[in-house]
Amino acid sequence: MQTVLVTGGAGFIGANFTLVARRNNWINIINLDKLTYASNLDNLGEIKDDINYHFVQGDIGNIELVSYLLDKYQPQAIINFAAETHVDRSIFSPQSFIQTNVVGTFNLLEATRFYWQKLSLQNQQNFRFIHVSTDEVYGSLKVQDPAFREDTPYAPNSPYAASKAASDHFVRAYYHTYGLPTLTTNCSNNYGPRQFPEKLIPLTILNALDGKPLPIYGDGQNIRDWLYVIDHCEAIYLVLQNGKIGETYNIGGMNEQTNLRVVKKICTILDELAPQSTSYADLITFVADRPGHDWRYAIDCTKISSELGWQPKENFDSGLFKTVQWYLNNSNWVQQVRSGAYQNWLKQNYENRTTK
Ligand code: NAD
Ligand code: TYD
Repeated sequence: MQTVLVTGGAGFIGANFTLVARRNNWINIINLDKLTYASNLDNLGEIKDDINYHFVQGDIGNIELVSYLLDKYQPQAIINFAAETHVDRSIFSPQSFIQTNVVGTFNLLEATRFYWQKLSLQNQQNFRFIHVSTDEVYGSLKVQDPAFREDTPYAPNSPYAASKAASDHFVRAYYHTYGLPTLTTNCSNNYGPRQFPEKLIPLTILNALDGKPLPIYGDGQNIRDWLYVIDHCEAIYLVLQNGKIGETYNIGGMNEQTNLRVVKKICTILDELAPQSTSYADLITFVADRPGHDWRYAIDCTKISSELGWQPKENFDSGLFKTVQWYLNNSNWVQQVRSGAYQNWLKQNYENRTTK
């Protein structure tokens, strides 16, 4: 079985990937995570004694540490989930996005290149570097535009998207220049258990349960393509096994929804699972828009579906229901992530947004 260095495995997608990979015995995992505010080691409590899983706290930008781990564990692949990921935070303070997403990914590539160049020819050929990226690098679509394809030109609009675009370009350059066997995946908005409640879906669930306003930026008509996190994890595993080196694969949920519709659906589920005297939808509050807010994202999954046979399995109604249930059933997890730092973030992002 392959040993894989997973970065950012204590975050939302990385933790779901690590859990599903270990439950199914897909791969052995070394998880390198800096443990930023977005991480949670409780996500991985289930596998903390698993002998085929090791956790290391550290930064992908630390070349000495990454080189040491590569030499020690001799992985056959790296899957890079580690990143700063929240668009609103990237608007307030872009610096850490450049540091981790650009410089960090560059340093990770450098350490990987040094390690990979020392491998035997056969091990070099079998090695894989999978870089997990976002559809936000392609910019914003109008309602009638075709969905993003792998050859859609990059046009990032937020500091977050620009930093991910830069990292994607470095990954591509390392394949073309050094022959490092890289692959990049660009996925749409993920949802599911264990997502930090700064993002729309978990923020809405937790605010609703607290009886707080459900903030909708602008008129709520912006569109996102929602992908259930476990479908995404399965796609990444397929790319690791069968993806063509040097290629990129778009991964989407085939599930475009306006933000207002998403929030209303969550309210309907909560009205059923945790009823109160009035509907949760009464808490919906339109607030000032995000600067530079991308209008629509949509992914064309033809390539991964025809080349690798991947299709999303979850439909939005069942996936959202499971997600809401998970937050209701995991009140300890919820209490733990709502620290003072999280309260400070809510103040920073929402206090001065005028209610429309
Ligand atoms: P997340 O914010 O939930 O978790 C990120 C993880 O990376 C955290 O555990 C954090 O501690 C770790 N990390 C941050 N900086 C690090 C560093 N310098 N060194 C080591 N670890 C570091 O993110 P996520 O939602 O799980 O996203 C994972 C990846 O998927 C990211 O690359 C993101 O750009 C991409 N992505 C996410 C979505 C989404 O909807 N969540 C959509 C498209 C693409
Ligand atoms: P988010 O979950 O932050 O993901 P992204 O910006 O990467 O797409 O936001 C999803 C959509 O929801 C996006 O159009 C912005 C919107 N949104 C709100 O309307 N209110 C909120 O409080 C948040 C966090 C997001």
